Amino acid sequence: MKTITIVAVFEVFDSFEKLPIEVQHLMEKAFEARNTAYTPYSKFKVGAAILLDNKEIITGSNQENASYPSGLCAERTAIYYAGAKFPEAKVERIAISAKSMNHHLVIPIPPCGACRQAISEYEVKQETPIEIYFMGEGGKVVKSNSLKDLLPLGFDGSYL
Ligand code: THU
Repeated sequence: MKTITIVAVFEVFDSFEKLPIEVQHLMEKAFEARNTAYTPYSKFKVGAAILLDNKEIITGSNQENASYPSGLCAERTAIYYAGAKFPEAKVERIAISAKSMNHHLVIPIPPCGACRQAISEYEVKQETPIEIYFMGEGGKVVKSNSLKDLLPLGFDGSYL
């Protein structure tokens, strides 16, 4: 028997203000997108902003549905729109911010498993890492240098 040890290193910024200025600008787009979330059920609003290598910024927010599983997370709303609008572009960076209407959220909110899988598809396709920054409404911001760090031993099309 052998073991596999997986080490992932994440950078933690003490606050939004500590982010590099260009990342602050992208995170501000995520804040704006968060306000467009349609969340009558969870009251949990998420915004995602994607920077493409053609310098376009695509945003998305979570869109809920009375039939709960029919709703979609902010990250997938954004990345599928980016793929549909700019199919040749590479994703350089994603900024994510979440806000609860029930309490002040100051812990970094990472993308859910399904969104990690969706982002992974684009990272594998473009063969370059995607930086992911995530936060709550305020508080610390976590940076992942690649989706792979958030989804080790991931499944991709090479297995098919
Ligand atoms: N949500 C996102 O938009 N992104 C995530 O990565 C986690 C969860 C949304 C889905 C749902 O509308 C609400 O947050 C509560 O789960």
